[in-house]
Amino acid sequence: MLNGWPIINDEAKTMLMDQVRAFAQKEIAPKAKEFDETGHFPTDLIKQLGEMGLMGMMVEEKFGGAGMDTVSYAMALEEIASACASTAVIMSVNNSLVCGPLSAFGSDEQKEKFLKPLAQGKKLGCFALSEPGHGSDPAGLKCSVTKVEGGYRLNGSKNWITNGKEADFAIVFATLDKNLGHKGICAFVVDTKAAGYQVAKLEDKLGITASSTAALFFDDVFIPQIGLLGKEGQGFKIALHTLDGGRIGIASQALGIAKCALSASKNFASEREQFGAPISKLQAIQFFIADMATRLQGARLLTWAAANCKDNDLKYTKEAAMAKLAASEAAMWIATKAIQVHGGYGYTKEYVVERNFRDAKITEIYEGTSEIQRLVIAAQELAELK
Ligand code: CAA
Repeated sequence: MLNGWPIINDEAKTMLMDQVRAFAQKEIAPKAKEFDETGHFPTDLIKQLGEMGLMGMMVEEKFGGAGMDTVSYAMALEEIASACASTAVIMSVNNSLVCGPLSAFGSDEQKEKFLKPLAQGKKLGCFALSEPGHGSDPAGLKCSVTKVEGGYRLNGSKNWITNGKEADFAIVFATLDKNLGHKGICAFVVDTKAAGYQVAKLEDKLGITASSTAALFFDDVFIPQIGLLGKEGQGFKIALHTLDGGRIGIASQALGIAKCALSASKNFASEREQFGAPISKLQAIQFFIADMATRLQGARLLTWAAANCKDNDLKYTKEAAMAKLAASEAAMWIATKAIQVHGGYGYTKEYVVERNFRDAKITEIYEGTSEIQRLVIAAQELAELK
């Protein structure tokens, strides 16, 4: 599949992809339907992903990671998502939204204490930015901290937090001074076992049901000084910088969902007979397959291009937003067409495309809706005029 790609033609990456694909198809795909139906959090699989170096892929080896690049991460995540979108988002949040900011902004002491076990897959993390009244617009968030001897006290609530139930550490954004707007926001690493830290509610969701999505409540939670990530007031920029990387992860998750839907459609179309022949012989179905494959490849190329920019220390805010926008909308479109190819069968839970359809939707919403991605892309495009 890599032949002819302008960006990637690398034997090590091909091998990684093959290995992760083999693992995902053997160990994850057969269990994904049950995970989806029962909402079972795949604890054992996440442990295995940790042992394979997939929970802290871009973290330096000295801090417990695999020391790989973002392109490799995108490829691996696509393979995991192709088997199970829930497992993929658990992996994506830990890698991009938790290990990411700790790697970029953490001190060596914080990396040793928090990053190492997270990257090794011994601990799990979540990213707590969104609030009931602040989803797309986090600059006005209400969670607050006050300074006390030895650290801070945290109060408030957070919403829609992936891994919120199982996380050992949470990256929490809270304001030290509301009057300063986004410049008052700080980022903290919070131990979820701390007194006053509560998982208030678990969401009952349309898709990615085997990952948890929680509301969190903080009642005077003490955060020792070592929990402050970066500098006071730097939190909003840490959040947006982190989300740039996160969007490459969600784009990769969307690619995996789309790949699964396309593959199922090709198989089904080759076997299902109507009018005396497999429906793959019908031009209407061939057009669907052609458009699905083209949208998938286009989105994949954008995703790998964004990852490649990140790996080469180039700006990638716009590229990551384009990748997420293209991949998530491609996934939703491809999953919709996949059901159409399957006809009535595709509308039943017996076929994987029904799950693909439900799982694809969230990729257009979390880590910035498609509308937010368009705002980010337009802002960057227009800034280039100046
Ligand atoms: N990286 C670093 N800094 C950035 C940045 C970036 N990508 N983009 C902007 N900034 C900086 C700006 O330079 C500016 O700094 P100064 O004031 O010093 O000049 C500051 O941040 C504010 O910038 P804006 O005025 O552009 O910010 P804004 O308030 O208008 O917001 C936005 C911009 C793009 C709409 C942003 O709020 C955004 O991305 N919203 C979506 C949030 C989101 O994705 N939420 C998902 C939460 S995570 C999740 O989904 C849960 C999960 O568990 C999966």
